[in-house]
Amino acid sequence: ISLLPTDYTIRPLRRSDYQRGYLDVLRVLTTVGEISEEQWDKRFDWIKSRNDEYYMLVVCDGADRVVGTGSLIVERKFIHELGMVGHIEDIAVEKGQQGKKLGLRIIQALDFVAAQVGCYKSILDCSEANEGFYVKCGFKRAGLEMAHYY
Ligand code: ACO
Repeated sequence: ISLLPTDYTIRPLRRSDYQRGYLDVLRVLTTVGEISEEQWDKRFDWIKSRNDEYYMLVVCDGADRVVGTGSLIVERKFIHELGMVGHIEDIAVEKGQQGKKLGLRIIQALDFVAAQVGCYKSILDCSEANEGFYVKCGFKRAGLEMAHYY
């Protein structure tokens, strides 16, 4: 298990992370758009109401700014005797903080949660450019992603 740098913490997402730069961290991943605090609160409450399904983590630096994030969504199935699958989503580490093993630490934490809640596997989609990172995190290439955009 990789350790965080001194003064860094990892914890569940909080409503107040809106003020701690959470959305800017997600902007290293993709387009986020402009999200008002009211819109944030509404989505945060919805996610919070599903706290046995959505596990969203953040890494904060010593100044309590959000510098990394990642999510696990637990899917309940009928197959595999009511099996559960973890979906790892939206892993992002602020540019200046990359290469400090924060991404690895986030994946380890989400993997731990997935195993604890009883998932039999966790899966994710990523670009070829990120394959090496996920291999270092213990994942292996499996299947092929297909998408239908609306
Ligand atoms: N290719 C190959 N190896 C990599 C890569 C890469 N793209 N990125 C990191 N690694 C290696 C590191 O060198 C390190 O190896 P080491 O243990 O031998 O030193 C190991 O993987 C762990 O790296 P971390 O320092 O934990 O990586 P970092 O904190 O920089 O986070 C991440 C990696 C999340 C991909 C980050 O670069 C990032 O935020 N990128 C932009 C957003 C993004 O692409 N997110 C992933 C989208 S896929 C999804 O969300 C499911």
